[in-house]
Amino acid sequence: MCGIVGYTGPREAGPILIEGLGRLEYRGYDSAGIALVDEEGALFVEKKAGKLVNLQAAIADRTPHASLGVAHTRWATHGRPNDLNAHPHQDCTGEITVVHNGIIENFRELRDELEARGHALRSETDTEALAHLVEDAYQGDLSAAVREALGRVEGAYALVVMHRGERSRLIGARHNVPLVVGLNGEESFLASDVAAILAHTDKVVFLQEGDIADVRPTGVTITSLTGEPLDRPVSTIDWTPEAAEKGGHATFMEKEIHEQPEALAQSLAGRVSPAGGVAAPELDEMADTFRRVTRVELVACGTAYYAAMVGAAALQEWTGLPSRVTVGSEFRYSPPPVDTNTLVVAVTQSGETADTIAPTRWAREQGCPIVAITNTVGSAITREADAVMFLQAGPEIAVAASKTFVTQVTTLVTLAATIAKARGAMAEAAELELGAALRHLPEAAARTLELAAHVPAMAQRYAGSRGFMFIGRGYSFPAALEGALKLKEVSYIHAEGYAAGELKHGPISLLDAECPLVAVATRSRVYDKLMSNVMEGRARDARVIAVATEGDEAIGRFADEVVFVPPTHEALSPVLAVIPLQLFAYHTALARGNDVDQPRNLAKSVTVE
Ligand code: F6R
Repeated sequence: MCGIVGYTGPREAGPILIEGLGRLEYRGYDSAGIALVDEEGALFVEKKAGKLVNLQAAIADRTPHASLGVAHTRWATHGRPNDLNAHPHQDCTGEITVVHNGIIENFRELRDELEARGHALRSETDTEALAHLVEDAYQGDLSAAVREALGRVEGAYALVVMHRGERSRLIGARHNVPLVVGLNGEESFLASDVAAILAHTDKVVFLQEGDIADVRPTGVTITSLTGEPLDRPVSTIDWTPEAAEKGGHATFMEKEIHEQPEALAQSLAGRVSPAGGVAAPELDEMADTFRRVTRVELVACGTAYYAAMVGAAALQEWTGLPSRVTVGSEFRYSPPPVDTNTLVVAVTQSGETADTIAPTRWAREQGCPIVAITNTVGSAITREADAVMFLQAGPEIAVAASKTFVTQVTTLVTLAATIAKARGAMAEAAELELGAALRHLPEAAARTLELAAHVPAMAQRYAGSRGFMFIGRGYSFPAALEGALKLKEVSYIHAEGYAAGELKHGPISLLDAECPLVAVATRSRVYDKLMSNVMEGRARDARVIAVATEGDEAIGRFADEVVFVPPTHEALSPVLAVIPLQLFAYHTALARGNDVDQPRNLAKSVTVE
């Protein structure tokens, strides 16, 4: 939820850390703080509630020269978002400084025990207890003290600890929350993700569960919690720093919506042959498993859940296997019956969503084969899976997902086709039809963006609406749900997503001239049924905004506003239909003056339950 960055090396730490925090603000942004050890060994700490600009203003003319430091951007879990609860936190002596992302579940007992031993804790946070635990354990070696302190801790953490007296050393630790080490010759970094340090290095070590990283300017030594040395590979990241910048767009969300054609092309690379064959080479080893499984359970949250709905529908239709998707937080405590013939597919952009990881881990313990679909190399979910399909969509910085939804859909559709082929359930003609549609999809997405040129003006006209009702049927239902979620997230207008046939069973009572009906009315087997539902809405004075397939001449009779998308394979229709809905949400939010990249109350990566 929070963002961490640490630096040790010959350069000025302050500006490097603040720039890194800027790249991490999407992880949480209710307060930010920095701690630096200056050239005389004095500790400088500043923490400010609110966005990073508040911290920047507070340190503008007084940042000390320092070559060691840590910084943090927070999304509160324990303790209100104020200056005091902002990280970093110190121990009683001020020697030890900690920044933390995650939740220490036994922090109340730890705090009580520390206070009983005479420690003075100043904030309401779980994190501060860690600084005092390290203080108690410290006997001249920070790494040993952190290991000992973490032996007492239950919960999830990524943390970075520094000691005022050890002027070039940072200790990082990871357990169920991401943390990477960046290496660049004479300087090293620790960060929540590579976006924070990519401007300085492309050489990173992804820490794994239970790793303790002893980071010095010239390198890193990794041990387990009990001190055994561990070998971790150094990965070279091929994302350019520019890929994480806005690239000429006003916001990351706008940039990411517009780069969907490219993201789709990247994502499909290696998965569709020029002749139209569909296959995911990373699943080759799973062919026998795909032949023997008897059902598929998908698990995901939020936008990934809606993408997984498309995947479940395609899997069921093409393989004949019962396939369903459950949100992670429900799967975790009310799991469906599973056995070793149940294929579990976990879908998560970040790969770090606690609600998705826990049920996946549980399913693995039950002996289920696992396929993970994620955008994040080295993320936690990859360690729970027998095979991983990467979205290959590049970093997504805006909190509201866009390009990862469309690439999740295509990746899931590719998975469904791969399984169907392994089971001999997909005829060659059907595969080639899908392959041709996939190959054409990046171009169709680019055309969709052109066809949506009038959406900004349309959003202006509707930005004052009381609420919105989104409807779809079949494959267009998940697109309707995702359209409603996008609108809620960034515009703060209430929006419902419904299976169109359900409208008459209750929600139709919400419709009137102030509550428009958004119909995902792309060509499909259930197009006529959907039109009947649109007519029901129109009869209640609702204005109708339709997303329809190019060439649909009848739609103008049913809708007040139409956005066309090119024709495509029915299972891929949500990929194109969602694009105008993303733009509609985006421009409605702009019209209402909202911060689209960092909508209120949200965080990009939800690593707590
Ligand atoms: C919506 C959004 C969230 C995420 C959800 C799961 O725009 O971004 O609903 O989709 O928190 O996140 P991941 O995919 O990282 O597991």
